Amino acid sequence: MRTLILPCFTGLLVGGCAGQQEVLPTETISFRTQVAPVIERSCAGCHAVGGSNARDAVYMDASGRATYANVRGGIALALREIESGHMPPRAGVAVSTEERLRIKAWVAQGSKDN
Ligand code: HEC
Repeated sequence: MRTLILPCFTGLLVGGCAGQQEVLPTETISFRTQVAPVIERSCAGCHAVGGSNARDAVYMDASGRATYANVRGGIALALREIESGHMPPRAGVAVSTEERLRIKAWVAQGSKDN
């Protein structure tokens, strides 16, 4: 029993008991080349104007581009949906762990328009 409890307790000490620690990339993440393309690829099909769910969380402008203002405004909700596994649905293109960590790092770096 002790061997089961100990890793969890150790995990609590360094930031939670949610399992493995996430290590965010330390290099500067670019909104235009590393964040927007992922949102456009995995979310635009349905959340762009004219998509199946254009009302909720519109990250794109009418041309299907992920705009800085929209993404920045909706990124907390977007990350919540991605991390819960709710979005994108199976019909969409999955967001990889690396891509997700890059998006989190971009937020941690102040969500810059870079
Ligand atoms: C295949 C179509 C499709 C794709 C791709 C897709 N979504 Fe969705 N999304 C939906 C639909 C339909 C809903 C509304 C029904 C629901 O919540 O399940 C929704 C709802 C949402 C909501 C609102 C959830 C809530 O609780 O109010 C958010 C935020 C969201 N999506 C973010 C994203 C993000 C971020 C991506 C890309 C990583 C994405 N979606 C990709 C179809 C899609």
